[in-house]
Amino acid sequence: MCGIVGGIGNADFRSYILGGLKKLDYRGYDSAGIAYRLNGKINLIKTQGTVEKLDALVPDFQGADIAIGHTRWATHGVPNEINAHPQVSMNALIHIVHNGVIENFRALKTKLRSRGYTFRTQTDTEVIADLLEYHYIQNGKKDFIKAIENTMDELEGSYATAIILDKEERLYFMKKASPLLIGVSEQGHFLASDCVPMMHLTDKFVDLDDMEYGYMTKSELHLFKNHRQIPPKFVKRDVDDFRYDISGYEHFMLKEIEEAPYVLRRLADNYCVDGEYTFNPDMLESIRKADEVVFIACGTSYYASLFGVEFLNYMGKRATAYIASEWAYRPQRFSKKPLYIFLSQSGETADIVACQKIVNAEGLKNIAITNSKGSTLDRKATYGCLIYAGLEVGVAATKTYMAQVGFLSLLLGALTGSHSAVTHLDALIDAVRDIIERKEAIHELAKEVIKAPSLFYIGRGSDYNAALECALKLKEISYIHAEAYPGGELKHGPIALIEKDTPVIGLISSPAIALQLRNNIEELKARGAKTFIVCNASLSNGTDAFLTKEIKPYLAPLTKVVFGQYFSYYVAYEKGLPIDKPRNLAKAVTVE
Ligand code: G6P
Repeated sequence: MCGIVGGIGNADFRSYILGGLKKLDYRGYDSAGIAYRLNGKINLIKTQGTVEKLDALVPDFQGADIAIGHTRWATHGVPNEINAHPQVSMNALIHIVHNGVIENFRALKTKLRSRGYTFRTQTDTEVIADLLEYHYIQNGKKDFIKAIENTMDELEGSYATAIILDKEERLYFMKKASPLLIGVSEQGHFLASDCVPMMHLTDKFVDLDDMEYGYMTKSELHLFKNHRQIPPKFVKRDVDDFRYDISGYEHFMLKEIEEAPYVLRRLADNYCVDGEYTFNPDMLESIRKADEVVFIACGTSYYASLFGVEFLNYMGKRATAYIASEWAYRPQRFSKKPLYIFLSQSGETADIVACQKIVNAEGLKNIAITNSKGSTLDRKATYGCLIYAGLEVGVAATKTYMAQVGFLSLLLGALTGSHSAVTHLDALIDAVRDIIERKEAIHELAKEVIKAPSLFYIGRGSDYNAALECALKLKEISYIHAEAYPGGELKHGPIALIEKDTPVIGLISSPAIALQLRNNIEELKARGAKTFIVCNASLSNGTDAFLTKEIKPYLAPLTKVVFGQYFSYYVAYEKGLPIDKPRNLAKAVTVE
């Protein structure tokens, strides 16, 4: 899983490729590389590490006519310079960048060995380069499009690629299952894994579909599918949707935590105008008619979907949530008229895309709730809905989680015909602002756990959902092992892990569970745990570590999540960790 960027024409390619890769490093950042042709010669520069490291190695160059770049999240082969992209074919006719996974690469390597090829790297991408080159040489170097078709016939898996062929004045591409967009401008043609790197050049794009391939020159775009040339379908993207600006904050994560009030406001303004909900009425009807609503998601989005389950259960609707990578291999169907909801910030998570393909193949209705207009899930859904959170750069999801649950609460309002959902959201916004003002108190608490090897979050009811997300945040960016448990469950095993000073954070958002949770905390304290309680102000007994404003119980756990976001941020900050780019992670996981 990686980010790719490329272009042909007369742009400032150094700034376009390196700037573009920096905007794509949410897709991985363990190695990076660039290839550009200047005065007829291809220059290749690669490095282990981030795009910033690559930037320091690339000389100033002007006048290149074609360039490709790559930021990697290693799947096959350790992240080192050799395995970094661009990859080069054995006879150096081809330079290629690739996002995806070639599943049959071992079989293809065997095949290529019998054709005289030897391998230089541990990557699956090298196989694509060699296959393209082999077929091109086979057809007498006459027809590279034919070579692409022959190669696509042999490849199994996913790929979005940009390919420079020897001395040709063309940038070739092919796509299956990994996202790829082409940008069209006066200065030339460009491509990238998402539109952000190209937004300063154009607002005119082509969203490539699976199995499409072709080439572009400075002024022409030739698109093919199934051996036939097809006309490109142009779409517009709004530049305002993509602000990539840290606005004086030290980290994007901090900025994005504090954007939650604006994001929730915008969400409410989009989905409730003059007191009327604006959700697609057919979509609402489909939810009402379904005998079960099935949420499918990953990571933070999965934890957000647990609120969706609760909200729908509250209105008497059967609902369940599955982790996409589990459901994809064991699609479960217990109802006659299920409706599927795919919840995904990026709209590109491969495990979810795989589930959507299964659902679409069966002709079943589905809703994609994403933060990315035109993403794969958005395009292929029966109903696509946006959470309007704006670009989220920090790898750890923060404002988008808030927007996902906020969206689900408004959906509940629309389904039940209750007009108080917006008022409740307003109260949440106010409570989040209050936490923002008192964030230094969370900073102080965070300092108390920075040396801890592990930590527990406990909660009951919806607070358990919040605890799951808080623990995930801490793992992701502070590298402290964190577990979430329902308050009553610890005594059934995990309590054995509690020793002197093990930190435990208890969350209390509802009077219904306050007493029980406090009892659970006492049990842990008695065994030496260092306990902290984060609690609604009205439920405090005066000894709690942090208080949140009183809001409706179904939204109150979100205030605990904001606490958890800050807490993780400050722990990672005190430990001096790379907060926006934690190790081993990527923001959009486009491999299954
Ligand atoms: C990755 C990210 C997580 C995210 C998950 C699902 O693992 O690092 O932060 O929650 O993917 O992503 P999605 O885009 O589908 O919400």
